[in-house]
Amino acid sequence: MRRQRLDLEALEAVLLDMDGTLVDSDASVERAWTAWAGEYGADIARVLAVAHGSPAAHTVRRLLPALDASEVAEAARRQHALQYDDLADVAAAPGAHDLLAELDRLGLPWAVVTSADRRLAEARLHAAGIDPPLLLTVDDVRAGKPDPEGYLRAAARLGADPASCLVVEDSEPGLAAGRAAGMRCAALRGLDGDLRLLDLGQLAHLLRHARLRPWWRDAVGYQVYLPSFRDSTGDGWGDLAGVSAHLDHLARLAVDVVWLTPFFRSPMRDHGYDIADYRAVDPSFGGEAALDELLDQAHRRGMRVIGDLVVNHTSDAHPWFAAASSSRSEPRRDYYIWRDPAPDGGPPNNWLSHFGGPAWTFSPATGQYYLHLFRPEQPDLNWRNPALAAEIDAVIEHWLVRGLDGFRIDTAAYLVKDAGLRDNPPLPPGRLAPTLGTTLDWRRQDHRYDIHQPDVHAIHEQWRRVADRHGAFLLGEVYELDPVALARFVTGERLHSSFWFGLVETGWNPDRIDAMITAAVAASPRLSWVQGNHDRSRAATRYGGGMLGRRRSLALHVLMALLPGTAWLYQGEELGLGDGQVPPGQGADPLATAQPDQSRDVVRTPMPWRPGPGLGFTTGRPWLPGGGRLRSDTVAGQTGDPASHLNVLRRLLMVRRRLAGLLAVTDEVTRQEIGAPVTAYRRGDLWALANLRDTPSAEVELPAPAVFDSDDPAVTADRPKSGRIRLAPQQALLLAAR
Ligand code: NOJ
Repeated sequence: MRRQRLDLEALEAVLLDMDGTLVDSDASVERAWTAWAGEYGADIARVLAVAHGSPAAHTVRRLLPALDASEVAEAARRQHALQYDDLADVAAAPGAHDLLAELDRLGLPWAVVTSADRRLAEARLHAAGIDPPLLLTVDDVRAGKPDPEGYLRAAARLGADPASCLVVEDSEPGLAAGRAAGMRCAALRGLDGDLRLLDLGQLAHLLRHARLRPWWRDAVGYQVYLPSFRDSTGDGWGDLAGVSAHLDHLARLAVDVVWLTPFFRSPMRDHGYDIADYRAVDPSFGGEAALDELLDQAHRRGMRVIGDLVVNHTSDAHPWFAAASSSRSEPRRDYYIWRDPAPDGGPPNNWLSHFGGPAWTFSPATGQYYLHLFRPEQPDLNWRNPALAAEIDAVIEHWLVRGLDGFRIDTAAYLVKDAGLRDNPPLPPGRLAPTLGTTLDWRRQDHRYDIHQPDVHAIHEQWRRVADRHGAFLLGEVYELDPVALARFVTGERLHSSFWFGLVETGWNPDRIDAMITAAVAASPRLSWVQGNHDRSRAATRYGGGMLGRRRSLALHVLMALLPGTAWLYQGEELGLGDGQVPPGQGADPLATAQPDQSRDVVRTPMPWRPGPGLGFTTGRPWLPGGGRLRSDTVAGQTGDPASHLNVLRRLLMVRRRLAGLLAVTDEVTRQEIGAPVTAYRRGDLWALANLRDTPSAEVELPAPAVFDSDDPAVTADRPKSGRIRLAPQQALLLAAR
């Protein structure tokens, strides 16, 4: 049975446990119980194992069953006495103040419900600087947790329906109390709740987003290329259970939304971008149950999951195509694009496939050609047929009901073709279409008639109507590099956002990149920022390779952290990976056959989780070679090093999450001059600074305190840095004026 996603928009109250949840009192609790165990001759290991989360008297009774009631009361009193005065290191838990301030700002009632007695609770909360509007202690109830009475009373006092309350707990008895009260539960310390929180700051972030802006505004996204992320079965091919198993990796990167490349039933001629059944999960990815589990686990971490809507074409193994190609009079014939041969018997026009050769294949059974802008096994759908459009609306609805949070839309600007199927003009000799990822022949044409037709906006507007009913996000894959032209895809009721691929299609040129970003920011606040994906050479390689390429990519991530719109990581980018090595003859990409220099295999080699055979990706033989990764390329190899690419990105994205409230204040970003060749952008009270050059900058006065410094882990929101600074090559900072 699939669990209902927690609806943070509809919460009426938040009820928080105290010790270990709001207040970090672990050390003092341990000290008190250790002293107590010494006095009462109890086994200290057992004491520490059970002392957390229940009232002292319960714990005493459990540990020393021979004591009578008055002895138990006395022993509990003694335990409290040991705790009252020992508040030296009691402090607010990470994110507690952020959360409580957010609850107050949102006007969301909250209370503290604790198993401690009133005197201790007041002392601890006070020591942590927390003053709850309502405090229920063990003195207010007949029994402590796991009895639900405390939570039920708190809900009644706040006038909230228990079913609309969220309990936040860090212990099993507390969670049991919340559940018994009929409430939804958020759990810390890796415990299992409707939400699994890393810390309270994460809950603040989720509430802020759920209640103030659409969840996807300023979200951080992560692209999972499913075949290469993690294989859980040993067949060498990534799968959905592999993603579920590594969601905590994404949670530690403060990822808000995961894009899964296609998981639908497919013959995999283009590794999933050739769908044979839009409503089925391919068994090689783990089938339906694996998807349900992944959605559930992601949602419990407050993460959204979007799918990949591939509807420019289907697989030739789709039953629609089987029917369509069987006879000219078949009702589904018109789901695809068929034409008679040219007078010489050749293809109907000069359009080309991205993967080489003509975009038309002759079907002898019915004597006509069908169109395919990709492989012959990927026939293009006919978007001028309303029956087909209705089928796809229903597919979208199906998955949003099923639990997906939206879609990345494959080739979103293709779909509709010129009604007259006119020939594309050739480009003047020497000029090439700007986008890569195709054959050279394809780039020699002006693609005036086969792609990017204005009628496509009406399709997007229709999808928006479906998506908005579900609060879902539609993100286009549109290779329109001119941001002003791209902005037309994301105005009004069109797509919510679209990737802007300027940073994906470029090598390293600081001035150009600077100008491009400024132009993209000015064009629309609804663009999505991305440096790489499964179709183009990795950012670190394009930006110069090695450590230099990594640092350049990181500097751009710092700028991206400030810009309005969603900001994306392609799997492995958090490790600063460059392109993998794929020896000749070991690839699998259909494009590489026609255009070897555009091979996409090199960016699809397995995610390196740890050193050794299989890279922690598989226990079997991976479907693509390992890529020649070093230990220092792997997640395990980078985790322990505070200066690793992975840890710097984690720091960056955690700070960004903390700044989300300030980001939300305005979408307006302006380029700033700060007196040195340092790229600087400002958004309200926030700034991003990056030295995109390979030489140190002149000294500059920081216009606001730095809360993140790519080169100095000691700089944090709690320990900001001010004053004058010379930025090292590729050093980048985030600043917050308040
Ligand atoms: C874009 C996808 O990203 C790519 O991998 C695929 O080959 C084409 N669209 C065709 O679906």
